[in-house]
Amino acid sequence: MSVTRTIIRSVGAYLPERIVTNEELSTFVDTSDEWILERTGIKQRHMAAQGEFTSHFAVAAAKMALERAGLAASEIDMIIVGTTTPDRTFPSTACIVQAELGMTNGAAFDLQAACSGFLYGLAIADSFIVAGAYKRILVIGAETLTRLMDWTDRNTCVLFGDGAGATIVEGIEGQGDLSDRGILACHLRSDGRYRDLLTATGGPSSTKSIGTVQMNGREVFRHAVANISDAIHEALQATGFGADDIDWFVPHQANGRILEGVAKRVGLPDDKIIITLDRQGNTSAASVPLALNSLYESGKLESNQLVLFEAMGGGFTWGSVLVRW
Ligand code: UT7
Repeated sequence: MSVTRTIIRSVGAYLPERIVTNEELSTFVDTSDEWILERTGIKQRHMAAQGEFTSHFAVAAAKMALERAGLAASEIDMIIVGTTTPDRTFPSTACIVQAELGMTNGAAFDLQAACSGFLYGLAIADSFIVAGAYKRILVIGAETLTRLMDWTDRNTCVLFGDGAGATIVEGIEGQGDLSDRGILACHLRSDGRYRDLLTATGGPSSTKSIGTVQMNGREVFRHAVANISDAIHEALQATGFGADDIDWFVPHQANGRILEGVAKRVGLPDDKIIITLDRQGNTSAASVPLALNSLYESGKLESNQLVLFEAMGGGFTWGSVLVRW
């Protein structure tokens, strides 16, 4: 039976020029390179300069993805931007990106699912495409998380960085079995009971300010390992694949120790796990497409390989997406 499948046709990325190493951070935060590296695996992060906004990174990543696909912006039907750090409260960053790309057709909107924003965007794009509503969608994860930092809170401010990743997804015809290219499984979850464990202290409706990130690191860590492992098991169960069948694991980049814990539980070997957090820190919704871009640029990603994405963030929100490249 012929079905529509959503393939990831192209990927792009952008990181701001300014790099802040752990050593530099230690000059104004009560921390050390040793502590950050040992507890998280992070060595440095990129940081937006004054006058650089989330939309700037999103546009740069989108342009790279368009160029690699050989597509014009007018050939895109929809833009979804996963972000927790929009340029403005409104209009959406996606509408700003749309205008900057010179695109007047289609629809654009932001999606707020914290660090899971890109993955949620990918799953929603898949639904639109499989339903036949749209053919080609730009799904972006873009953030300036450093703008949400309390630089006196060493529990959080050493973890995050800025940047953007973009993908172009589009519909192709498949046979309806697991040999098809494209998205084979999407599992999205959330549990708002845990909303205060990882949150911003402000918002337009409550404080009329953006606030800063506050996190109970130990509790988030504990939930992250369990939730991510569950989301991966769901993807494997739904498709009948085993951990051995996965060629690449492209996870949200929060903490190297979380990834070690997940890999152990699920049975994924280290050499299949894409790590960018050492160079980029946790870029929230941008981290998964940035990691995908890193895999793409390594030249190791081949057609028909199975790629497993996961993310987990504030809300809590989490999930997994399994794609045959
Ligand atoms: O993307 C969204 C999801 N976010 C996450 O997944 C983050 C999950 N959590 C984590 O990654 C870890 O919990 C952290 C990296 C945030 C913290 O690591 P930890 O091993 O859980 O440390 P801890 O919070 O238990 O703190 C241990 C000690 C404390 O000192 P005492 O009380 O033992 O004296 C902290 O005050 O480390 C201290 N500490 C630091 N020391 C130097 C906390 N932050 C720092 C720091 N530099 N930056």
